[in-house]
Amino acid sequence: MQTYDQQYPYSIQDPEGFWMEQAREIPWFEMPEKGLSVDEKGFYRWYRGGKINLSYVALDYHVENGRGDQAALIYDSPVTGKIESYTFREMRDEVAKFAGVLAGLGVQKGDTVVIYMPMIPQAAVAMFACARLGAIHSVVFGGFAPHELAIRIDDAQPKVLVTANGGIEISRHVHYKPIVDQALKEAQHKVGTVVLYQREEVEPATMIEGRDHDWATLMETAEPHGYVEVDGADPLYILYTSGTTGKPKGIIRENGGYAVALKYSMNYVYHTKPGEVYWAASDIGWVVGHSYIIYGPLINGCTSIMFEGKPIKTPDPGTFWRVINQHNVKTLFTAPTAFRAIKKEDPNGTFKEKYPTPSLEYLFLAGERCDVATYNWSKDLLEVPVIDNWWQTESGWPMISQMPGYGMRPVKPGSASKAVCGYDIRILGPNQEELGPNEEGAVCIKLPLPPSCLPTLWNNDDRFRSGYLDPYPGFYFSGDGGYKDEDGYIFITGRIDDIINVAGHRLSTAEMEEAVASHPDVAECCVIGIEDELKGQIPVGFFVKKEGVSAEEPELERQLIKLVREQVGPVAAFKRALLVKRLPKTRSGKILRKTMRMIADGKDYKMPSTIEDPQVLDEITTDMQQKHVGQAFA
Ligand code: COA
Ligand code: AMP
Repeated sequence: MQTYDQQYPYSIQDPEGFWMEQAREIPWFEMPEKGLSVDEKGFYRWYRGGKINLSYVALDYHVENGRGDQAALIYDSPVTGKIESYTFREMRDEVAKFAGVLAGLGVQKGDTVVIYMPMIPQAAVAMFACARLGAIHSVVFGGFAPHELAIRIDDAQPKVLVTANGGIEISRHVHYKPIVDQALKEAQHKVGTVVLYQREEVEPATMIEGRDHDWATLMETAEPHGYVEVDGADPLYILYTSGTTGKPKGIIRENGGYAVALKYSMNYVYHTKPGEVYWAASDIGWVVGHSYIIYGPLINGCTSIMFEGKPIKTPDPGTFWRVINQHNVKTLFTAPTAFRAIKKEDPNGTFKEKYPTPSLEYLFLAGERCDVATYNWSKDLLEVPVIDNWWQTESGWPMISQMPGYGMRPVKPGSASKAVCGYDIRILGPNQEELGPNEEGAVCIKLPLPPSCLPTLWNNDDRFRSGYLDPYPGFYFSGDGGYKDEDGYIFITGRIDDIINVAGHRLSTAEMEEAVASHPDVAECCVIGIEDELKGQIPVGFFVKKEGVSAEEPELERQLIKLVREQVGPVAAFKRALLVKRLPKTRSGKILRKTMRMIADGKDYKMPSTIEDPQVLDEITTDMQQKHVGQAFA
């Protein structure tokens, strides 16, 4: 049996050999001759020259190899009461037909398509249909507002946009089409074609003649389209993620490296076998959804669950156990916040008694720090290994995790364990020096990165270099801080930058600040992420009003909350904005966001030596205290 202790050093010392071996697990049309190469721009690329198609790898291949009648996707939707199952054959046929629809609308290899859809099977069909044509999809999460969608449309420049009339958030109908209409009005890039799926549970959306096409009508006459061969290093998708500015970053994912890394991770990280049922309770708008609702499980011949609901209130905190019980789920993957939500509503896990979960073998948690209390509660309740795994949109698959495929090692709560094969993770200090055991620094990865990791940013090589490569030459800078203990276990302590993680959703405070600053009565402002018992972190705004503004704090706060909701989206969960007299700053005018965060979280902080006026910190502390902002003053 292979062990981590053999495989990890092999993957680091001979990445070419290691990843060419893994590449043989994938049905290429033509195997690449080489794994790793460097392109004209100096960026590392995997599997150039290979010929592949991920719609073929995930669907047709399984139909051709005896899995045609196995469920590929089970759509379980407590918000509509629907459960539908699609076999690999049915999925392939739907995808081929929708690829025919897109081709008929002019979509070709290399074109981009934006998908803005709720958690319905048609979203998976649209993604695979793009992959089938060699077109590049860019899925935008439904909780983002029109402005955010418009920014992504302008960057991705799609030929076609695919959407639906709406989603259902517990019982609230979210009408997607007006959001799309408004975004298309705001975007500079003109999208000539919209395909609209009208679901029966949500009020029908109005169509704009000439531009909008009805999904069902197009499918009636569509001819199935075959798969188009693409290069191993051709992009499969762009997924936008929050950066430290108001403009999101377009992470590029390439076909070959993604297929190889996902297959490898399904085997060795998630420890699944073809035919098993795998459930990632996330959303297709996030990287977890791309990798482990859509591509990973299907590439591995597993059945994937697409769940349209929440861990609570749909209809109760027993919904996860019901799904596991009903569909024989072996592996559950979600964010710790989902378990915190269940624990809050059902602290003794009484709902679990109603739905035993004998099929469950593993719980994987990722997307945010897994606190020890949540780890212990989930482990005691489910009586299976609970595996914290650390990764990012940028990688597309885990970077630090237990690898049960090679056997479990002892758990240290608070650590996601050791580096996954392929990732040479180092903790670096301010002078780029490698730090010793238990010394906290920047979490970096020695280049080259393994397959699936971003080669660069969409249309923005400079930002890729300056954000990820330049800070620590020879390394990829993750943006997270952390330390490694004497046994090589890595502890992630949180983002070093202004990115926050709200209920497992990665958001930029800069984007929220832009919205708050756009209010005519606001002189200056900042938004920080503070600790929250349920969501991990939540954003809080602090603002100074302009001279002569008579509006009072409650009214201004209400307007600012509305503004952020309209400009960034409800997912920001921006619910507090505090009026303050002044903001704490350095002498050069930099707002002391980190110090404010420490105050709210009740952590010890050192008075920054560069502070302009130390008294402002006392004022801010009093404000937080009086308004009960932050765990320290709850
Ligand atoms: N379309 C439209 N609106 C959406 C949306 C979508 N796809 N997803 C979320 N929203 C809205 C919600 O309705 C909510 O709006 P509200 O302020 O009017 O209530 C807001 O965005 C925040 O949503 P959410 O973060 O889901 O918070 P919640 O309070 O509704 O639920 C949890 C809290 C913990 C139950 C929920 O966040 C959860 O299940 N998290 C699981 C983790 C997860 O999926 N992580 C993704 C990465 S792995
Ligand atoms: P995203 O790109 O949305 O997946 O968010 C990535 C960020 O989420 C990382 O940079 C971390 O800050 C955080 N994150 C993800 N998984 C973990 C984890 N297991 N532990 C701690 N932080 C995590």
